[in-house]
Amino acid sequence: MIPADALTRLKSARSIAVLTGAGVSAESGVATFRDPDGIWARFSPTELASMDGFMANPQRVLDWYAHRRAVVDAVEPNAGHTALVALERWITQRDGTFTLITQNVDRLHQRAGSRNVLEVHGNLVEDRCSVCEEIHKGEQQLDAAGLPVCTTCGGRLRPNVVWFGEDLPRDVWDASERAARDADVFMSIGTSSVVWPAAGLAHTARSRGAAIIEVNPTSTDLTPDVTWHIAAPSGTALPLIVAALEAA
Ligand code: APR
Repeated sequence: MIPADALTRLKSARSIAVLTGAGVSAESGVATFRDPDGIWARFSPTELASMDGFMANPQRVLDWYAHRRAVVDAVEPNAGHTALVALERWITQRDGTFTLITQNVDRLHQRAGSRNVLEVHGNLVEDRCSVCEEIHKGEQQLDAAGLPVCTTCGGRLRPNVVWFGEDLPRDVWDASERAARDADVFMSIGTSSVVWPAAGLAHTARSRGAAIIEVNPTSTDLTPDVTWHIAAPSGTALPLIVAALEAA
């Protein structure tokens, strides 16, 4: 299942960058977005993942993100998350570098033990003030309408995730681009590669000579441009990759 020449390339890599998407959390029981039974088949991204949707009905958006938090709190990282922790340990023990760039907001990578994680689309755990941008975690001050507001400026709190049409966090994006540029091997795992600019990172890596390994049971927009496509679930393929590297 794992091409031998892909393993050879990984063994000689000094720098590995990984981009994950919702597919890496699927085996934990967290729905993806664009699979047939995915989130966007049941909910409207415009209503629930945009500033316009939030301004139109903040309670509906806050309730939906509270539901997503409850779903994620009730699940555990899966073998794919754990394998990425082992891969990070494997290359850093060889004085190599490992950067895990994730589009996921579920924090399952961190709960599994991944250390160098760049959340390009934010996270479900924190709220952010829509006025002064202050980050809030847990504490709640409610306005007259019963909606959470910033304890510093009174502005309305919203989930600290990147909504459609919003900029990605500058420092996180810059670090992600640097990691893609410096990578000897770039792994695209569990993402449909249709949401930019994250979908461009693999192309950035490729333009600098990196080998691209895609792990996804189906083909994606990126597949024509990858060096190897491993058509398997990440919970199956990633442990096999790590076991082969550790056995070498
Ligand atoms: N292992 C690996 N890949 C899987 C698995 C699995 N077990 N199960 C599903 N997949 C793949 C699907 O084939 C699909 O290509 O995961 C991909 C999930 O794609 P999307 O649902 O589009 O999720 P993602 O690519 O993360 O979406 C990117 O879109 O809605 C926004 O902000 C949201 O971060 C998200 C972004």
